[in-house]
Amino acid sequence: MRSQYADIFNHNEDAPDYDVDVTDESRPLRAAYSEVLDWVSSQAAVDRLTRVLELGSGTGNLSARIPHCAELVCVDIAPRMESIAAAKLGHLPHRHYVESDLLEFFDTNPGRFDVVISTYAIHHLIEEEKLMLFVRIHDHLVARGRAVFGDLMLPTAAHEESILAEFRARDDEETCAALKEEFFWHVDTATQALESLGFDVRARRFSTLSHGICARKPA
Ligand SMILES: C[S@@+](CC[C@H](N)C(=O)[O-])C[C@H]1O[C@@H](n2cnc3c(N)ncnc32)[C@H](O)[C@@H]1O
Repeated sequence: MRSQYADIFNHNEDAPDYDVDVTDESRPLRAAYSEVLDWVSSQAAVDRLTRVLELGSGTGNLSARIPHCAELVCVDIAPRMESIAAAKLGHLPHRHYVESDLLEFFDTNPGRFDVVISTYAIHHLIEEEKLMLFVRIHDHLVARGRAVFGDLMLPTAAHEESILAEFRARDDEETCAALKEEFFWHVDTATQALESLGFDVRARRFSTLSHGICARKPA
């Protein structure tokens, strides 16, 4: 199954400017970007024997933080984002790219992973698709495996209006447009959904708009 807005949120057109864009952490959408990627890679606790799946790998900024593992399978719908990743990460022989939608990828029977990681990609899936993705991730993780996410997230759906009002009052059109047009996670419902699948879940706030979630599958 393919996610509904895969073609709209395909970042091919953004590829040339993406790496400069994410370095401006003064913008609320990018606040704590590098800290979130550092946290996701540290929580993933990858070693040389770990098989890792990265969802929405973009220009490879999270992959770059996984220098050693058994295999790093990177999924993204945008081959132009991957061209930039490939140019930066040619020294990582364990890294492989798959051009695919995040949900559709699981229809290819990719086997099981020790770790699934993703930063700033899953907010392009609608709520129902996020829940479907959690099930697929659960089913493709080994026992004691973990999924670590960093993304645009709000604590609850109820915060959406007040946060939008806050950015409207600041005339921050970029953030308002993202809040209206993209599908920011809600930490409370995502946590509940992951817990209902049996994961142990911990969440951490990095900025007004960015949070991390680490979900561990029990033995
Ligand atoms: C904001 S970028 C994040 C890239 C990278 N993970 C990072 O943290 O910098 C989102 C990435 O997700 C990809 N993407 C968006 N929707 C997707 C989908 N449905 N399936 C696969 N990739 C998708 C985009 O092409 C883009 O490369």
